[in-house]
Amino acid sequence: MKFEVSSNNISEIKADIEFVVIIGGRINHSYVLDQKELKEYEFDVKKQSIIYLANKRRVYISILNLNDPDELRDVIAKATRSIKNKKIKSIKIASYQTDEITINDSVKAIVDGFIFGIYEFDFYKTEKSVNNIKSVIISSQNYTKTPISSSELKNLVEESVIIAESTNFTKDIVNKAPDEITPKKLADIAKQLTSIKYVTCKVYNQKFLEKENMGAFLAVSRSSIRSPKLICLTYKPKKVLKKITLVGKGLTYDSGGLSLKPSDAMIGMKCDKSGACATLGILRAVALLGLPVEINVIIGATENMIGGDSFKPDDILVSKSGKTIEVRNTDAEGRLVLCDCLTYAQENTKFDYILDFATLTGACLVALGEFTIGILGHSNKLKHQFFNASRDSGELVGSLPFNRHLKKHLDSKIADISNISSTRFGGTITAAMYLDSFIDDKNKDKWLHLDIAGPAYLEKDWGYNTYGASGAGVRITVSWILNLLSKGL
Ligand code: BES
Ligand code: ZN
Ligand code: ZN
Repeated sequence: MKFEVSSNNISEIKADIEFVVIIGGRINHSYVLDQKELKEYEFDVKKQSIIYLANKRRVYISILNLNDPDELRDVIAKATRSIKNKKIKSIKIASYQTDEITINDSVKAIVDGFIFGIYEFDFYKTEKSVNNIKSVIISSQNYTKTPISSSELKNLVEESVIIAESTNFTKDIVNKAPDEITPKKLADIAKQLTSIKYVTCKVYNQKFLEKENMGAFLAVSRSSIRSPKLICLTYKPKKVLKKITLVGKGLTYDSGGLSLKPSDAMIGMKCDKSGACATLGILRAVALLGLPVEINVIIGATENMIGGDSFKPDDILVSKSGKTIEVRNTDAEGRLVLCDCLTYAQENTKFDYILDFATLTGACLVALGEFTIGILGHSNKLKHQFFNASRDSGELVGSLPFNRHLKKHLDSKIADISNISSTRFGGTITAAMYLDSFIDDKNKDKWLHLDIAGPAYLEKDWGYNTYGASGAGVRITVSWILNLLSKGL
C-alpha cells in the first residue's frame, strides 16, 4: 500500500472511493454530500459508526470527538478492514483538524489507521489474506481548517508510514512461532537491520557471556538446547544530539523453567521476546527516519526451558555486577537476563537515557489492565515525557510507584537479593525494584523501565490491533524521541 499526497481539492482527486469523517455528530456539515442517504439508512453519528455507500463511492465514518486522535486511528482501521477484500484499489481522504487536535495528530492517526487496518499475520496460513488497496491519497485540502502545505504533509506522511511499518515489523517477529524465532534467528533479524545506513550489529555467544561473568543470564539459558545470544545493535549517524540505550528482554520462549507454568499460562509465551522486538522496531524507525540520535540496543536472547541441567530454585547465581542472587522461582527469569544486560549496557554504552523493555510480570495486567504499559523509574520528568508521548502515539501508559517497604520483600537470607518478592502483592513494582538494584547511582534518573506484559500480545482484537502482537513500545518511544528533538528536551 502506497501513500500519496495531493494539494488538489478532494473532489478533483481520482480514486475508487473516498473516506469521509463526520466529527461530533455534525452531519449537516457542507462536506457531507450524502446527508439524505445517511439519514435514510439511519447512520448513527452519535457513536463510532461506519457505512459504505457503494453507489456513491464513499465510506462515511463518524467519531464523537477529535480530541483523542486515537479514536480516529481506531475507526479508520476498522473501515479499512471492512473494505480491504472488496474491489477497491485506491482511497482518497482529506486531512482533518479541530481546535484541540493538530494536523500532525490527525494525519498520523489516519496513516496508522490504514497500515494497522490492513495488517494481518498470515505467515502460516496456506491461503493468504487479501488486500486490494494499493494506494491512499491524502489531500492537503482540509475540511475543517486552513490547508497544510503539501510538502509539510508529505514529510508527515512519510514519517508516519515509517513508524507504523516499524510497528508491524515488530509484530511480525513476535507473532512467529518460538521454534522459528530462536535466539539465533532473532540475532539474524537484528543483523539484517545493518542494511540501513549507520546501523552496525555485533552478536555474542555463550563463551562471551562466560568471559563477561553474566552468571544470571547464563543460568537461565542453561536449560535450553539453543545457545544464548547477546545482541548489540547500534545506530550512529554523523550528527548526534542525544544518546539512548535500549535494553530488551528476548525470551524466545518462557515455559517457566522448573517452576513450570501451568498449561494455560504457557500459551502465548512466544511473546516473551516482545521487549527485544520492540527495541528492534524502535531502532529501525529511528534509523530510517535518519534522526540525529545515537541508539544502542542490547538484547538478551535465550529460552527458559526445562532439562537435566536447568537452573533451580535454591541456586545462588553471581550476576555480572558481582551481586549474588538467590533463585526462588525460575519463572522470574526475565529479571535475571535483564540485570546482566543492564550492567553490560551501563558499562559499554554511553547514554543520556537508558530504557528497558520487557514482558516482565503478569502482575502488570492485574495492576493496569491488559492494554496499558507500566512505566517505572526514578525520574518524574522522564515519566512525564512518556505521558505526553502516550497521547501523541495512542499507546497507553500507567506509572507505578517504587516504595521502600516493598523493596524489603526482595531481601534474601543467604544472598544479596532474591529473584522474587516474599509477597505476591505489587509484583510489577518489586520486579522493577529488583532491576533498580542493578542501576548505578549515577544513572538512576536516566533510567526508565517499561513493563509491556499487558499490551504486547493479546488473544483477541482490540481497537486497531488485531489478534496477537501489537508492537507495544515502538510508537510511544519513537514519539518520545521525536519530542526530545523537536522540543529540545
Ligand atoms: N514472561 C512472564 C511474564 C508475563 C506474564 C508476560 C503474562 C506476558 C504475559 C515472566 O517471566 C513471569 O513469568 N513472571 C512471573 C513472575 C513471578 C514468578 C514472580 C509472573 O508474572 O507470574
Ligand atoms: Zn517467566
Ligand atoms: Zn518471562
